Amino acid sequence: MILDRILDFAHSLMERAVQKGDIVVDGTCGNGYDTAFLAKIVGETGHVYAFDVQEEAINNTKERLRKEGVSEQSTVIYDSHVHVQEYLQTEHKGNVQAAIYNLGYLPGSDKTIITKPEGTIESVKSVLATLKKGGLIVLVVYHGHPGGRKEKDALLEYVTSLDSKNHQVLNYEFINKKNTPPFILAIEKI
Ligand SMILES: C[S@@+](CC[C@H](N)C(=O)[O-])C[C@H]1O[C@@H](n2cnc3c(N)ncnc32)[C@H](O)[C@@H]1O
Repeated sequence: MILDRILDFAHSLMERAVQKGDIVVDGTCGNGYDTAFLAKIVGETGHVYAFDVQEEAINNTKERLRKEGVSEQSTVIYDSHVHVQEYLQTEHKGNVQAAIYNLGYLPGSDKTIITKPEGTIESVKSVLATLKKGGLIVLVVYHGHPGGRKEKDALLEYVTSLDSKNHQVLNYEFINKKNTPPFILAIEKI
């Protein structure tokens, strides 16, 4: 297929935005797939900060990073992404190149532990404030679960309100798919 599926497109955006040596954030590390993917791109000279509020997710992510040999360049943080600024090393502040958020719940786990509109938006604002010009934030928005619609609506309202002089916002969505398929919001700081 010519058009990338949602997760492939999220990764291809990250590959375009991120290089060796960059500082990046995974706002919702879950099982660590995105964290490991990013850690490989940034290499030993870069760094990935990965957040999750579930111990299971933290353990799974640490284990994946260990197996893939990319733990050195990663910090896995058992806390909400709302507190991202508190964990950045001083020299990384204002120097973040990209962030990814896979929203919703952890597949195969407790479906009531979900990302919430206020927290997600607060975290995105915090990352935007520390993002380099030319940096990118990718949000993969799952909204079929209880609470998902509220987060989707709040996010769409927030990203639409970002001033177009300093931000480019993309919505990548398959509009003829049934059953509330996920979609991507990407914010480029310009
Ligand atoms: C869709 S999953 C992420 C999947 C992950 N990217 C992967 O590669 O496996 C969403 C994750 O967000 C986490 N989460 C929910 N609220 C959060 C918050 N405030 N801060 C950080 N993570 C949160 C959940 O615990 C869950 O693991």
